[in-house]
Amino acid sequence: MPKPERFLYICTNSRPEGHPRGACSQKGGGAILMRFAELLNAEGLKGKITLATSGCVGPCSSGPLVSVMPDNVWYKSLTTEDVDEIVIEHLKGNRPVTRLEMEDRDWG
Ligand code: FES
Repeated sequence: MPKPERFLYICTNSRPEGHPRGACSQKGGGAILMRFAELLNAEGLKGKITLATSGCVGPCSSGPLVSVMPDNVWYKSLTTEDVDEIVIEHLKGNRPVTRLEMEDRDWG
């Protein structure tokens, strides 16, 4: 098995319904994970990019969050349609999708 080129960390943390911080799983983190898995397979990236789930990384109000390492690119408030664009533009084309990236102020 070759060494992966990149890792995607997808927050799938959950909290009780009504929790003031919310959580990425309640905002679609699981669907985001499944869409990445489908597309990495379809685009021949399986093995080059490893998918991993993560717990809460802090800025929950910007969820669902996905980080791409070692690029240190953090995506926020993703939809499954955004996943398609990230796979084609960033993971295949090496052009991060800047409009979806977290900004410094999102970290609080
Ligand atoms: S629950 Fe995902 S960042 Fe906090």
